[in-house]
This record gives sequence, C-alpha cells and structure tokens, in this order.
Amino acid sequence: YRRQRQMCIRDRRYVLALTTVIKHVYLWSMEKRFISSNAQPQQDAYHTKWQAPSNIALVKYWGKTLPQLPKNASLSFTLSDAQTKTEVNFTPLGAPTKKVSFSILFEGEEKPSFRPKLEAFFDLITAYQPFLLHYDIAISSHNTFPHSSGIASSASSMAALAACLVDLESQLSPMDEKLKLEKTSFLARLGSGSASRSVQGPMMAWGTHPSVIASSDLIAVTVNDIHPIFTTYCDTILLVDKGQKQVSSTLGHKLMHNHPYASQRFAQANSQLAALLSVLKSGNLDAFISIVEKEALDLHAMMMTSDPYFILMQPNTLQIINAVWQFRFETKMPLCFTLDAGANVHLLYPSNVADKVKAFIASDLLQFCQNRQCVHDVVGTGIKKC
Ligand code: DP6
Repeated sequence: YRRQRQMCIRDRRYVLALTTVIKHVYLWSMEKRFISSNAQPQQDAYHTKWQAPSNIALVKYWGKTLPQLPKNASLSFTLSDAQTKTEVNFTPLGAPTKKVSFSILFEGEEKPSFRPKLEAFFDLITAYQPFLLHYDIAISSHNTFPHSSGIASSASSMAALAACLVDLESQLSPMDEKLKLEKTSFLARLGSGSASRSVQGPMMAWGTHPSVIASSDLIAVTVNDIHPIFTTYCDTILLVDKGQKQVSSTLGHKLMHNHPYASQRFAQANSQLAALLSVLKSGNLDAFISIVEKEALDLHAMMMTSDPYFILMQPNTLQIINAVWQFRFETKMPLCFTLDAGANVHLLYPSNVADKVKAFIASDLLQFCQNRQCVHDVVGTGIKKC
C-alpha cells in the first residue's frame, strides 16, 4: 500500500511539473508576438498624449509570480472619471543607451520617488520595445481625481503610459487596432498587474480561466455577454483614509508566497469568477452582491492571516459596511460594497437607484469619510487619445 501511495505521489509530481513546463512553453510562444523586432527608430521627435481610467476589481488579483503573472484570474469594472492623463515626448538620441533614458513630471513636479518603479518597468519592457533605447522619453502625467485621495493610481498611470509607448511603436511599424490594444494591456501589466485591465471596458478579465474566452495571464480581455444593467453601474468611492497605505500592494502580493491559505484562495477566486460570469449574464443582482462582497472580505482576510499580518480596514470602513447592510435590508435596493487594498470603500449600484443611493450617502455615510469626501464614478470604456 505504501509503495502504491509513493508511486501515486511521484506520478502527481510528474504531472504537475509537466503542466508547468507546458504552461511556460505556451506563454513563451504567446509572448513572442509582443516583441517588436521590425520597429526601427526614426530621426523625428514624436509627441503623444493618452488618458486611461482606473478600475475596480470584483474578483481580486492578490498573489503573483514572475514576470507579473497572476496566481488567479481577476475581473473588474473599468471606471470613467478617475483618469490619468499622460503625455510623452520622444526625442531621438544620437546613439542608443544601455538603459531607457527618461524623466518624469507628475502634476507638473519632478518625482524622484516614481523613478525606481519606472526604471524596473522600462528594464522589463525593453525586450519587447528595443527601439525605446534610441529615444529620450519625457513623461508628464496628471490625475483627474483628487491628489493623494488614496485611490490607486498605478492602474490608470501604467495603462496611460503603455498607450503612449504603443502609439510610438505603431508609428514605427504597422500594427492593427487589436494588436495595439493587446500590446497596451501586455505592457501595462508589466508595470502594474491591475493596469492590464484598464485598457478597455466596461468589464475586463485578466488571467487564464476556462470560462473566459481567449483569457490569458499576459493580457486582459473584455468580458462580453453581460446583462445591460451592468453597463449602467456606478461606483462611489468613499474616502475613509487619504493617507499613505501602511502596507503596499506589492508587499501584500509577496506575502501570498508563504501564505497558509494561498492555494485555497487562488482556487476560490477562480471559482467565484466562474459563478460571477453566469450572474453577469443573467443580471441576478442578489447573487452579484454576495459574490462581490465576499470577494472584498476574502481579500482582507488574506491580509489578516498573512505573516506578518496586517489590517487595512479602519473603524469607519466597518461603520460604512454596516450602514450599507442596514440600508439594503430596509430598502431592498441593490447597493453593495467592495474594497481594494486600503480603507476606502467602493459602493456599487445600478444607475436606476442612483438618486436614492446618493441621498443616503450624503445623509448617512459622508460622516465616515475624511473631510466628508467621496468620488462619484461610473463604468467606462478604457484608454483614449487626448
Ligand atoms: C487589491 O495591480 O496594484 O487592487 O501588480 O504589484 O502593481 P502590482 O499590484 P496592483 O494590485 C492590485 C490589488 C487589488 C486587487 C485588484 O485590483 O485586482
């Protein structure tokens, strides 16, 4: 019996190793089409400006492997008003450099603190856009949402920058619209995982999943076949804490490596995504609410059970959650919440109840927000040239 058991374990390890090898070969062959070997740098300078929205995940990405590949599939609403606008001046250099030469202005000011993340980004993407070494890249960016509001801006900023880089590439070698969007998502992902989902809308999925057609770990794809109610969704972001987060998402993702519940969480996220897909088709809002709220609390449960553990929710986060549950119980309106990696609360609701929900927010919830601040947003369609 023991011998049989050992053989069984060996077989399972063998299958697992083989699956990993096949997955890597597949990813490598997929990735090849994002290497722009034909694009030749030009003598002329090029200027472009793009805007990209933020997005809010309904099924959360939390845990990744190199190079920026998700441990589970995630799904998000693309937003509309919370945007980053980025303009880039590409100036040809006399000779190529070893590392990408760039400067960064944010809200008109130089930002040395942004350089390490951007340096790592450019190091990763030169394999796919080698022509960048022939330019000096002057980036200037600003956000449409309040500065230091605690709203994650890495998704919108990386997607806007990726759109500018792909725009230059399309001047240097022909690219069709589909490839442009896919490459933008591909590059954005290498800057920040969730940024891959900001390129199109209203709903995007990132990460290989058997129920999402053409899904991939390399790029996000649009989720089609959704009930029209979801194209009217509003997201009001209640700004509970506008300060710097005590633990960054980057560190949070790392803590999933030795997390005792990691494998259960990744499997659970994938099965919640499958369940959400059929709800998105049918328009069953009660089922939508349970999956979305569960996902938010599952994400924070991972933070509370990692080593070291941490809590990003604050007392006012819980006050809001309780008030939302009470409101839903009393009014039967389909208002629910989700959370990202912070204390702020995203309230999700269809536009046909927007007036009543906004009145409730003003009367009952703004008291829990810093300076009574919130940001009203709606679902949107992704990147745009300005
Ligand atoms: C909780 O995309 O910010 O918002 O890939 O390290 O840049 P990096 O992380 P990031 O993580 C987002 C985490 C999340 C969930 C989500 O948006 O899916």
